[in-house]
Amino acid sequence: MTIQSIATQPFDGQRPGTSGLRKKTSVFLQPMYLENFVQALLDVLNDSLAGGQALLGKTLVLGGDGRYHNSVAVQTILKIAAANGLGRILLGQDGLLSTPAASAVIRSRNVFGGIVLSASHNPGGVEGDFGIKYNAGNGGPAPESLTEAVYVRTQAITQVRISDAPDVPIDQLGIHWVERMRVEVIDSVADYAALMRSLFDFGMLRGMFAHGFSMRLDAMNAVGGIYAKAILEGELEAPHGTVVNAVPLEDFGGLHPDPNPVYAADLVAHMAGPNAPDFGAALDGDADRNMILGRNFLVTPSDSLAVLTAQARCIPAYHDGLRGVARSMPTSTAVDRVAKALGIDCYETPTGWKFFGNLLDADKVTICGEESYGAGSSHVREKDGLWAVLCWLSLQGVTGSSVETLVREHWKTYGRNYYSRHDYEGIPTDAARALMVALEEQGAAQQGKQFGPRVLTQADNFAYTDPVDGSRAAGQGIRWIFDDGSRIVFRLSGTGTQGATLRVYFEHYEADPLRQNEPTQQALADWIDLAQSLGQLRERTGMDAPTVVT
Ligand code: G1P
Ligand code: ZN
Repeated sequence: MTIQSIATQPFDGQRPGTSGLRKKTSVFLQPMYLENFVQALLDVLNDSLAGGQALLGKTLVLGGDGRYHNSVAVQTILKIAAANGLGRILLGQDGLLSTPAASAVIRSRNVFGGIVLSASHNPGGVEGDFGIKYNAGNGGPAPESLTEAVYVRTQAITQVRISDAPDVPIDQLGIHWVERMRVEVIDSVADYAALMRSLFDFGMLRGMFAHGFSMRLDAMNAVGGIYAKAILEGELEAPHGTVVNAVPLEDFGGLHPDPNPVYAADLVAHMAGPNAPDFGAALDGDADRNMILGRNFLVTPSDSLAVLTAQARCIPAYHDGLRGVARSMPTSTAVDRVAKALGIDCYETPTGWKFFGNLLDADKVTICGEESYGAGSSHVREKDGLWAVLCWLSLQGVTGSSVETLVREHWKTYGRNYYSRHDYEGIPTDAARALMVALEEQGAAQQGKQFGPRVLTQADNFAYTDPVDGSRAAGQGIRWIFDDGSRIVFRLSGTGTQGATLRVYFEHYEADPLRQNEPTQQALADWIDLAQSLGQLRERTGMDAPTVVT
């Protein structure tokens, strides 16, 4: 075994986005593409530590969502890490770790950080996407200061250090060596399952299934399947077959592993069918997202966050109440009303889980959520799909109410925030940038004007100052806010890999229970029309209609 220094040249655009470096798989398959990024990351980590041998005393967690190229990338990373003098790697068996499980392992074993290979909910395979992200010692996504430093390093890189050691048998639990680096292949599920056991009343949940409660969890052929099988069918003794699409496949079996009504249409159909189970849920490619359904009933992620906040005391981990809650800016304000009623703080952050990290670390919030099918709590520093599913299972067990009843009762108490997101995918990048400039100008010009029964009271581009470390994030989305609290928000996706994606978020509050049963798109029609006419979305995107509506 020898350590080689390979000459390399920078690649353009290795700047991590909302959630790590995410690109077409074909981009990652270019020789040295992954190698450069990993070397740059290790250089930056090394520089952040005092002393020459600093990495030698450190441990990183490594694992991924099992998509195409996962296992090859794992071997490459092991060899680069060993060549750079890292002390130890904890590797999920077969190279698998869901995003929340990676966070859980970093935290439970108190290690330096972790590398997660995932492009989350994006499709996999040669034609699909691949990604890599770094999580810090708190188990959460690296702060922008670190990802930016890595990017700067990728632009000046000249050499990659890599061992020519043979591949590690990543299917075999136990200790292996690459050069002087110890590789411990660990059970991918155990730490995470122990954490779930500590949060929930597994005895009560087991009792539900023993008494005939029925459920369908669609793991979308992704890594969440191994966790859902072990916990739901294993520990909670739900009937075999409760978890479907449970075996992680490199191409997700052709599915787009994004748990929303469009891509999880099969689950939605099952939940509307004559033999629908009591409860339905789906997870995404790396199991940090969740979708919650009752019989013929879809829960919007914003409502899910609000209901979980209102009912958190049903769950043992939150018996004593919540420190506070946080939501990303585009997420509906339904949770704000609950927080107000509970007398706890509610924070509004930019899109992306990394912005919740400081609030969680400083113990300012316990539960966080995003409209993009993400929810989580202080137990890890990522969103956590199966955690959300276990929360909803617990609420049903404790209250004896169905998903639909829980949500309808919630609306009666707090009012309903009608909510929808329209995505326009694959817009040419320049056109998208020009569109955002135009939307910002239009908002400023129309501020104070009357539109039908309401006035546009506030039009701005969301900027955030982190209350813990004072860091600023500007340009986080254009908001048009009306005097009745309804909102239209526009932002460009930071996770796409082709052209630009415009996301338009609509929200309208309805306090009157008699008017809480309209179809969502109908209830939001005024705002959808207004976004079209004021924003000239059709002309500027070249598209007649959004490509995805959730
Ligand atoms: C999307 C979601 C965002 C989420 C992120 C990672 O980012 O909108 O809420 O945190 O994926 O799962 P976007 O593509 O909008 O930048
Ligand atoms: Zn994900």
